[in-house]
Amino acid sequence: MVTIHSSLNSLTESSLLRRRSFLASLAAIGLAACTPEDTVSSHGNGEGLSQYPVESLNEAEEAGILQLREEEKLARDVYTLLEEKWGLSAFSQIKPSEQKHMDAVAKLINRYDLLDPAQESIGIFENQKISSLFETLMTKGEQSEVDALQVGMTVEDVDIYDIDEILSKNDNQDIQVVFTNLRNGSIKHLQRFYTDLKTLGGTYEPQYISQELFDQLTIGI
Ligand SMILES: [Fe+2]
Repeated sequence: MVTIHSSLNSLTESSLLRRRSFLASLAAIGLAACTPEDTVSSHGNGEGLSQYPVESLNEAEEAGILQLREEEKLARDVYTLLEEKWGLSAFSQIKPSEQKHMDAVAKLINRYDLLDPAQESIGIFENQKISSLFETLMTKGEQSEVDALQVGMTVEDVDIYDIDEILSKNDNQDIQVVFTNLRNGSIKHLQRFYTDLKTLGGTYEPQYISQELFDQLTIGI
């Protein structure tokens, strides 16, 4: 699960308020469009789930669905703002996939009749760990293009880590299908960010997944 330390969030209350005002003004941006850059194929947006049974949901599965809904929102919101800041193609091309990932998790929320935690406004989260992570990542991402791409890496890093945690506790077919596709998407996003990061001379050390897994996923880059 998200394990970022809250002490990393050093923004003052006033700067947070300014940021929230700015974020609210961005909330009207259209975010639902898809591009050919989307990297998840079948079931990437949750289509076709009706072929799988709605099985009983254990506590971990429910918590995992709700967490992933907001983690995909974290990715979408961070990439939206960093695209605005830096105009890097990686963010504009990956951002629509994150909306599709949010939509896919929303389908699970609907199938299991859960209360959707995701709010419309950019940068607003019910899960306080994700909210804190958002602030930390935005503070870093606004420093430079290299920092911004490292932030993209961290978003995908935590996403892959948490999806693996959730999948290890899940036995429902529909969750397995959706989350496996989200994971595949995150791997491709991680690879894209890493390619662009290395082009700018930047480096990255995994903060959530193991170095071994990171090396496997980025081999040849
Ligand atoms: Fe992603």
